[in-house]
Amino acid sequence: MPANTEINIFVTGATGYIGGAVLLRLLRHPRISDFKITALVRSPDKAEKLKSLGVTPVVGSLDDSELLKKLCSESDVVMSMADADHFASVQAMLSGLKTKFEATGTPPILIHTSGTGVLMDNAGGMYQYDTVWNDADPEQMATLPPTQIHRDVDLVVVGADEEGYVKSYIVLPSTIWGIAQGRLVDLGISNNQSMLIPGLVRPSLDRKQGGMVGLGKNLWPNVNIEEQGDFFIILLDAVLTKQDTGHGTNGYYFGESGEHSLYDVGKAIAEALVDLGIGQSREPTTFTKEEIDKYFRGRTPIGSNSRCRANHSRSLGWNPQKSTADMLASIRAEVEYMLKV
Ligand SMILES: *[C@@H]1O[C@H](CO)[C@@H](O)[C@H](O)[C@H]1NC(C)=O
Ligand SMILES: *[C@@H]1O[C@H](CO)[C@@H](O)[C@H](O)[C@H]1NC(C)=O
Repeated sequence: MPANTEINIFVTGATGYIGGAVLLRLLRHPRISDFKITALVRSPDKAEKLKSLGVTPVVGSLDDSELLKKLCSESDVVMSMADADHFASVQAMLSGLKTKFEATGTPPILIHTSGTGVLMDNAGGMYQYDTVWNDADPEQMATLPPTQIHRDVDLVVVGADEEGYVKSYIVLPSTIWGIAQGRLVDLGISNNQSMLIPGLVRPSLDRKQGGMVGLGKNLWPNVNIEEQGDFFIILLDAVLTKQDTGHGTNGYYFGESGEHSLYDVGKAIAEALVDLGIGQSREPTTFTKEEIDKYFRGRTPIGSNSRCRANHSRSLGWNPQKSTADMLASIRAEVEYMLKV
């Protein structure tokens, strides 16, 4: 899109961990004066705070299909960052974007947030798998079964792009880590914590011992929240300025800058607990069946594998620097923080 044209950007998930990091970056974007940012929020109080930052808030939820359709029919860019699995809201957004296309003849842009959970198996912590998914390989990505988590929504998004009325880009973050910072967090608008590592710290605090599913051999990618936030802006810039940014079936972008085993995370938590005088052993122990029922509602996605390389994301110039060692080193602060709250 040429400079000096107002670009209507609609965001969902602004009060969340990812969406908050992205909105923060949109607000300090060099082209902010070209952007008109509209954000969907449930809380009137947060809506007022967003208004003070120059964002146009709309109070509503993902269940308000008519509202979503209307907002998207007025948007050049939609950044969907609230929920990777809310099928009806994505259908409503696409319907609104189709109206926009019919009015202008230019396909609007949908950046939708999925996750590398789409790559999960049922390892139960007992092994690692060898398939490493490559976001720059559309043929491999097309083989992902429709039954995988998030995949139903992703396929509808890609299908809309194939119909030609929207250009779709799917961002798939992995284990996002780090405590988010900045004005939106300071103002109490957006969440500063991931659900992933705290989801393992909380049960570990309760049982006073680091834990894992099975032997913790399964592997997952990780990415820092600040670097994942940066990626969304790199992608947006590429989409707004270049003709050839891969979209649709060629529009997958992983968020990955390292890989860890569940054992590694369980061990870091176990060590933090010992150092803080809470735990007894520096080795994580296997969650019993009773513990899995109690802490994880009987399900063990954290014992799965999800392996990938963010080749496509890096091809846009994204160059994340944080490593698995940095992620593991951040765990003690997460444990200390959760002891306080
Ligand atoms: C991208 O990812 C794959 C893993 O699937 C890896 O084997 C390959 O070397 C990578 N390609 C490039 C160009 O970095
Ligand atoms: C995270 O946000 C909560 C709620 O706004 C706040 O109480 C807490 O201090 C924040 N944590 C950090 C480490 O900034």
